[in-house]
Amino acid sequence: MDDRVVALGEGDMDELMALERLCFAYHWTREQFAMGLERGVYRVLGLRQGGRLAGYIAFSLVEDEMEILNLAVHPDHRRCGIGAALLGRALDVCVTMGIAKSFLDVKASNVAAIDLYRKFGYEQIGIRKRYYPDTGDDALLFRHDIRRDPTQKKQ
Ligand SMILES: CC(C)(COP(=O)(O)OP(=O)(O)OC[C@H]1O[C@@H](n2cnc3c(N)ncnc32)[C@H](O)[C@@H]1OP(=O)(O)O)[C@@H](O)C(=O)NCCC(=O)NCCS
Repeated sequence: MDDRVVALGEGDMDELMALERLCFAYHWTREQFAMGLERGVYRVLGLRQGGRLAGYIAFSLVEDEMEILNLAVHPDHRRCGIGAALLGRALDVCVTMGIAKSFLDVKASNVAAIDLYRKFGYEQIGIRKRYYPDTGDDALLFRHDIRRDPTQKKQ
């Protein structure tokens, strides 16, 4: 378990919004983040580097299913293992809570994210044509049956 990953709360809203704007052209609104940070509709975990927020993951837990809603790492901190640390920690939470399945959708053109998810054992189960309104990209639907040790990436 990576101790650098912590739960984010209301006080992290401004930093989270700034990171979100840096990472996505079509980004979440303050209200969307408030649903997680203030109302607990979903969870948000983050990782700081040198005092600033370097990455976050948002995911929902409903019955025995986890859905990854968003994952982003600051451009200055990519390829340093932060995305993997965040995803690994979210999956640790699932193991602790006995949640067996994880789902997500990702842009078909997002090579970096797809590679990361595949390393953790996610497999494509479907496709939604021209799903994303900003780019017209297809959405690939992925599923992962969570193993006992989810932080152990597939080789
Ligand atoms: C996708 C993203 C979260 C990855 O974060 P990261 O911290 O750079 O990823 P890590 O350093 O933990 O890399 C873990 C693995 O992901 C894959 N990966 C990450 N960046 C990659 C890239 N540019 N090209 C190919 N594979 C990549 C690799 O398999 C990597 O393992 P390796 O370093 O052993 O090769 C980051 O690129 C990002 O924030 N992108 C913009 C936002 C986004 O697209 N989010 C996903 C929404 S579904």
